[in-house]
Amino acid sequence: MATDASNSNIPPASPADSFISRVVVEASLVSPEELKACAAKQEKLRKAGHQVRLVDILLKAGFVTKTQVKRLAHRPDDTVTHSLQHLPGFQIMQKIGSGAMASVYKAKQLSLDRIVAIKILPKRLSEDSSFVDRFYKEGRAAAKLSHNNIVQAIDVGEHLGYHYFVMEYVDGKTVYDGFPEHGAYSEDKALDIAIQMARALEHAHARGLIHRDVKPKNIMITKDGTAKLADMGLAREAGDAEAAAAEKGRAYGTPYYISPEQVRGVEDVDFRADIYSLGATLYHMVTGRVPFEGDTPAEIMHKHLRTPLTPPDHINTSLSTGFGEVVERALAKNRDRRYQSTSDLLLDLEMVRRGEAPPQAHSGLNNQLLANLATEGAEVSDDSTYMPHPAQILPKLPMPGYVVPLIIALVVEFLIIVALLGVLLAGG
Ligand SMILES: Nc1ncnc2c1ncn2[C@@H]1O[C@H](COP(=O)(O)OP(=O)(O)OP(=O)(O)O)[C@@H](O)[C@H]1O
Ligand SMILES: [Mg+2]
Repeated sequence: MATDASNSNIPPASPADSFISRVVVEASLVSPEELKACAAKQEKLRKAGHQVRLVDILLKAGFVTKTQVKRLAHRPDDTVTHSLQHLPGFQIMQKIGSGAMASVYKAKQLSLDRIVAIKILPKRLSEDSSFVDRFYKEGRAAAKLSHNNIVQAIDVGEHLGYHYFVMEYVDGKTVYDGFPEHGAYSEDKALDIAIQMARALEHAHARGLIHRDVKPKNIMITKDGTAKLADMGLAREAGDAEAAAAEKGRAYGTPYYISPEQVRGVEDVDFRADIYSLGATLYHMVTGRVPFEGDTPAEIMHKHLRTPLTPPDHINTSLSTGFGEVVERALAKNRDRRYQSTSDLLLDLEMVRRGEAPPQAHSGLNNQLLANLATEGAEVSDDSTYMPHPAQILPKLPMPGYVVPLIIALVVEFLIIVALLGVLLAGG
């Protein structure tokens, strides 16, 4: 489902915001005008750097109460639950949330008497046979993964024309929903989540699985602080980037975290795309801003390809240089200049946590700096995100041609004076 973004200046509403907008009006708790005023307030706050959920604005304005929100949020989607009430082996309990592609339900797996989450895809995706093939292939591959930082895939299946993906139920909230009120996570918290995500990706990449959609909404945090990567192995709609570019004024998914090679639609997207998306996620977490903003998905995606990145420590000046360097290295537009393995990224993150300089990011930035000096006067290439940190700009003094002979003459003159003094003293 694409979100209508007819006012192109306003970024696409989050799935949670879209959902609450729809249900509060349907339940006649809020008039369309009141909703519009709250959305305008939310946009004003966003522009001032505060990311606030629409539901919090509705609550603060007194249009809804907490109990009403709770009831509405747990309201099952009638069409799907009606058709799937008898999903073999499962009892659907309530809707947990929905995204651009599907809805997620809390359910009981009857055979094992345990709670699971089930993502149910819309029927339109069943008509795309290549999507269905990938859905099963990736689902089976993901079910073989087992890692504490990955939402465990349990099963894939089809019932009454609906394809579904059964997974571990995570009692917690996403990084997106947990953004602090002032807009950014602390470096320590972001680093902790980054390390857990790098471990998750290292596990998946070592087994040949690429996520392709790492973003704040796909990272869930449990109550004890464990970060879990969601939607691992869930096939994504082919050509998301193409669709987004073609669909002017409509928002397909989120292009804020997409790697340049995915924007280009290259066929051999590899694990380095996940490193870029994790870098973009961390950038957002510690600065409160996505790396590139724009009025349309096409504009944002174009910026991933061409616009140099504003270093994260220029936005959040309290950020350590090391953390900033890691994020910049992960966000290199050219994947050959990114971390070449998730293990390298993990090593650097662990060094930063120990308060030391991240060796990989450091050497990468220095190599880039030398390359830039070597091509002095040439424009920074399109595929470089590099903007040197002030501390890294080497002094580059002009050296006219006469300086070297002048220094030699001075040294010779000094030696002659020393020799003459020696002779005079010896004579005396
Ligand atoms: N395994 C899970 N356990 C508990 N809640 C989950 C689980 N997976 C997803 N959710 C909840 O369901 C919501 C919708 O998830 P979904 O993956 O459909 O969309 P999304 O990732 O938020 O957005 P998008 O459609 O852009 O990918 C999530 O925001 C999260 O709150
Ligand atoms: Mg998701």
